Order: sequence, then structure tokens, then C-alpha cells
Amino acid sequence: MNEPMIRFDAVTKKFAESAEPAVHELSLDVAEGEIVVLVGPSGCGKTTTLRMINRLIEPTSGKITVNGVDISTTPAHVLRRGIGYVIQQVGLFPHHTIHQNIAAVPDLLGWGRDDVQRRVTELLTLVGLDPDWGTRYPAELSGGQRQRVGVARALAADPAVLLMDEPFGAVDPIVRARLQRELLALHRQVRKTIVFVTHDMDEALLLGHRVAVFNTGGVLEQLATPVELLASPANDFVASFLGDDRALKRLALLGIAEDTLARGPAVQAGEGTDAARKVMREHGTEWAVVLDGERLRGRIDLPALRDGHPVGEQELRPVETMVRRDGNLRGALDAIVSSPDRMVVVLGADDVYLGMLTLEGLTAELAG
Ligand SMILES: Nc1ncnc2c1ncn2[C@@H]1O[C@H](COP(=O)(O)OP(=O)(O)OP(=O)(O)O)[C@@H](O)[C@H]1O
Ligand SMILES: [Mg+2]
Repeated sequence: MNEPMIRFDAVTKKFAESAEPAVHELSLDVAEGEIVVLVGPSGCGKTTTLRMINRLIEPTSGKITVNGVDISTTPAHVLRRGIGYVIQQVGLFPHHTIHQNIAAVPDLLGWGRDDVQRRVTELLTLVGLDPDWGTRYPAELSGGQRQRVGVARALAADPAVLLMDEPFGAVDPIVRARLQRELLALHRQVRKTIVFVTHDMDEALLLGHRVAVFNTGGVLEQLATPVELLASPANDFVASFLGDDRALKRLALLGIAEDTLARGPAVQAGEGTDAARKVMREHGTEWAVVLDGERLRGRIDLPALRDGHPVGEQELRPVETMVRRDGNLRGALDAIVSSPDRMVVVLGADDVYLGMLTLEGLTAELAG
């Protein structure tokens, strides 16, 4: 097995001798390229955990390794070169331009002017900002744009690890959703190891490959993938933090499996009305879907059948409840319950008919 990129080994942090620990006996591995999200109520030790990784806070006991090296043996300034850090209030220098903000670490490392300029342009483009905005000041940007500069700055020296402390906390829900999508797209491109802090469970479930749920007193209650967490929360605290709708949230994370689809009443466009009546009878329906080879043409209803004409030349209606193969089970469930036929047609690329999903099929998929 590969060495984890970050490892906490029984790490405890107490700020004062008598106080209850901010982080209690934490053991946690983060794999290279993984996104682990720390989530939990205010004061549960998320920021403390994050700041121990770049030695802004020193543990009281226990050991942290980054890339196999005990960080207490690495000078903090050397360690931090390999770790980008995005803080809650973005923390841009207000009197420095966007360019100067992003270039802070490369400048410190003594990069040449041209290299710095190239990197800043590259990063502004990467985070979806106009490369010409380097001359602006933070006050001339919106909150969401400043957040992106914060991310660009953290990525400047191409660190292997990115620490993000509630980076999207201060923006409105729409911008936040966009920044979340952008972060996932960015991660697909640059594959950093990311430790991300939030107190928003939905954000954690969306972004995390694994989610670490913390409780007051810095106790790690559960570390699991979003699907595992939703399917089997370790205890009542985790369950209540996931919310009452955790079954639905889990559906939203599950894809549609082709082997749970039924063929359903389907007839080829070139076939006659007898064939159409036969499949309807077999399936106990008064309608069937009409296919051209593998592609969906529409649906035909029993009363609309006119004998003597192939099905494809009859009055077809559009299929109203459809989902794409790459959709999720929550969308499929929504379509099933809003369909009078209690099923949803599943289409692949190029409108290829893959079959129908019914409530039974969906239940089978959840059980399997
Ligand atoms: N420098 C400090 N000195 C003393 N106590 C501290 C210090 N920093 C944090 N604490 C305490 O440690 C605990 C954990 O704080 P931390 O900032 O890690 O929480 P958090 O989970 O990030 O909370 P939030 O969601 O509000 O940001 C809190 O009880 C806090 O008061
Ligand atoms: Mg915090």
C-alpha cells in the first residue's frame, strides 16, 4: 500500500493544561490525491487539526507525518512551501494587487519575473478569472472572485497538499455551488491532496472522497465515504448531523445500474399493431415505448393503435419521464413518483434506450 500523504497518529492538542482537548487522540490518514473533508459543529477542533498540518499549531502529543516525514523534524517554513493554505476570510493583502497576492510565495522563493508572470496568468485562468485582472486590488473584486484568488494563491508554488478552511463560507449559495463545482474540476486537473474544513454537511458530502465527522472536544466520530456515512452512520450524533433526509441524500450519490433496468413494454417501429398489443398484454400495460433499432422514438397508447400500419407510422407521443444513464437515483425516484406509469425510461448516449427503472428495480439496487 502507498504511504499516506498525511498521517495523524494519536494526536492530541490541549491549549491549556486544565482545558478539555481541542483535538483528542486523532488518528487519520489522507491518501495522495484524496479530498478529505473535516466537518462538525463550531469549536470541535477542525481548524486546530488543519493548522497542525502546516505547524501553525503544534500538537501536545502524538505524531503527524507528511509524505512519510515527521513534520516536527521539518522547519516550518520549508514544510509550508509544500502546503497551500486557504483561510476562512480569504486573507488577501488589501494593499497588494491580485498579481502580487498570487505571486507572494513564488517571489519569496526567488522565481524569475517571467516565470512568476507566467504562473500568475496560468493560475488566474485555472480558477476562472480574467488574466488581465492581475493589476486590480482585492477591494475591486466580489467575494466569490476573492475566494478564487485565495485558491490561486494557495496553488502558486504548486504544493502537493492544499489545506482549505471554510473557503466558501462567506459567499452566497449560488456562488458557493459554482465554487464547489470549480474546485472539483480543478482537482481533476491538478490532483492535489486536499484537507477541506466545513461545518456544512452537504458541502462535505459533495466534495469529500471521505468525510471525517468531528464532535465537541475534538473527537473523531466517523471517517467514511459519503455513501458509507449515509448508509450506516456510526452513532446518533453522526446520524443527526447528516439530517433527517439522509436516505434521499444517499440516493443522490448513487448512480443508475444498468442491470437493474427492465426491458419493459418495447416494440420496434417497423412492427405491426399485433406485436404492440402482445408486448402490452405481456407487461399488463396499455402503452409501449417505440424504438428505431436501439434508439427511442416515442410511445404509443393502446387506444391510438390503428391496424394495418406499422407502429412507427402511428401517432406517437413523447416519453415524458426520462432520465439519463449518468443521472442519480434521487432524480430517478423523483421521475418515477411523478410518472402515472410509476416508471422512468433510462437513456444512454445518442438517445439509446437502455430500459426502464421501476420502484422495484430501485429497491433492488438499494439492497444490492
Ligand atoms: N489559540 C487558542 N487558544 C486557546 N484555545 C483555542 C485556541 N484556538 C482554538 N481554541 C479552542 O480550541 C477549540 C477548537 O477550536 P477550533 O478553532 O479548532 O474549532 P473549529 O472546529 O474550527 O470551529 P469553527 O467551526 O467555529 O471554526 C475551541 O474550543 C477553541 O476555543
Ligand atoms: Mg474553524
